[in-house]
Amino acid sequence: MLNFEFWNPTRVLFGTDYLQRLPDLLRTDNAKTVLIVYGGGSAVKSGLLQRVLDNLSDFRAFIFSGVEANPEYNTLMKAVELARSEKVDFIIALGGGSVIDGVKFISGAIHYHGDPWEVLAKKNNEAFNQAVPFGTVLTLPATGSEVNSGAVINRSELKEKRTMGGPQFFPKFSICDPTVVATIPERQLANGIVDAYMHTLEQYLTTSYGNLLQEREAEAILATLIEISDVVHNPSDYKLAYNFMLCASHALNGSLRCGAVTDWATHMIGHELTALYGIDHARTLAIIGPRLYEVQFDLKKDKLEQYGRRIFGIEGSKDEVAHLAIERTESFFQSLGIETRLSAYTDSQQDLIPHVKAKFTERGWTEMGQNGSLKMAEVEEILLNCR
Ligand code: NZQ
Ligand code: ZN
Repeated sequence: MLNFEFWNPTRVLFGTDYLQRLPDLLRTDNAKTVLIVYGGGSAVKSGLLQRVLDNLSDFRAFIFSGVEANPEYNTLMKAVELARSEKVDFIIALGGGSVIDGVKFISGAIHYHGDPWEVLAKKNNEAFNQAVPFGTVLTLPATGSEVNSGAVINRSELKEKRTMGGPQFFPKFSICDPTVVATIPERQLANGIVDAYMHTLEQYLTTSYGNLLQEREAEAILATLIEISDVVHNPSDYKLAYNFMLCASHALNGSLRCGAVTDWATHMIGHELTALYGIDHARTLAIIGPRLYEVQFDLKKDKLEQYGRRIFGIEGSKDEVAHLAIERTESFFQSLGIETRLSAYTDSQQDLIPHVKAKFTERGWTEMGQNGSLKMAEVEEILLNCR
């Protein structure tokens, strides 16, 4: 059994009609000057931005729009400038993972004296020591960013997608209203299901350490995501939307990693596919995940077998069940309209392996994944096999 520490201070308001609580929530944090950050316009179109503004009449409020999917460093730096010049003391992220992650970066960069890129590039052990408090109004279930303290920031001109985080980056509150799911396009709904599913597998498909409850919790999320996957076609169905949002949050609020050996190599490799080709985050996971499980089959087959039997009800020998579990996982992603081969997204794959090798070597990532078991030779094999 493994020891663990769990701490998650984010106040979650889950369900309908919580926007009217915004003024009280902001007063709790002594907010006076608020910056609302949103993405490309879906929050305007759905009327959500206006509903947020309607609750901010007692505060000085500024708006920053245009945060891209895979939030761009240069765009976020403009928000940092605005926040500094207007002395913003609270930020509201109105969006999905990209906007929320972007706000985590903005919140850390505002009071940082050096070049914030140094922190993302993990140069000189620099860190964001101070964070401007922020809350979220979630518009897209997928990443779990509304209930965790991590973020992923993109810098296209360097072909870099880097992570950041720390206990100061938990949102103060997150308003999670499943009715927002109704306006999400099918492509993003499918992405959201796959991202949440893969977050669960990253913390489950490793090895058993006897935390039976944690394993059952992960299996509950996987089974529920499969059960509600028709939300892709029926986003207005409140029961489906409610359970989808709950699964995505629970998959990455930190509880699944308690007492578990985690992996995360699929994410690390996947981020390079986004940095290089701009492929949606969840789709990179659908490309890499199944191939990684094949390459690390011997290491993961006990857990693959448990997963296959419990989630898909597959019968047979250990090896048969474990192999079929990988196939069924890939078919599930495909049933959502997600292509699982790299060739469906790009014709120019010749740069991929040299790019990944160079980046991982530069960062000292020579041993990744489950207990550091994934070496560069296996990463190369995964990348060759995913074409
Ligand atoms: O920009 P707008 O116009 O708002 O449109 C967005 C965007 O184009 C749209 N959308 C969001 N809510 C909507 C909506 N459209 C209609 N109705 C709504 N209610 O959806 C598009 C995608 O949004 P985005 O925020 O990019 O998606 P997602 O939530 O999947 O976030 C992906 C980002 O999160 C990172 C990923 O790497 C990627 O950059 N991740 C963050 C994690 C974390 N912080 O814990 C973990 C994840 O593994 C992931 O790496
Ligand atoms: Zn993810």
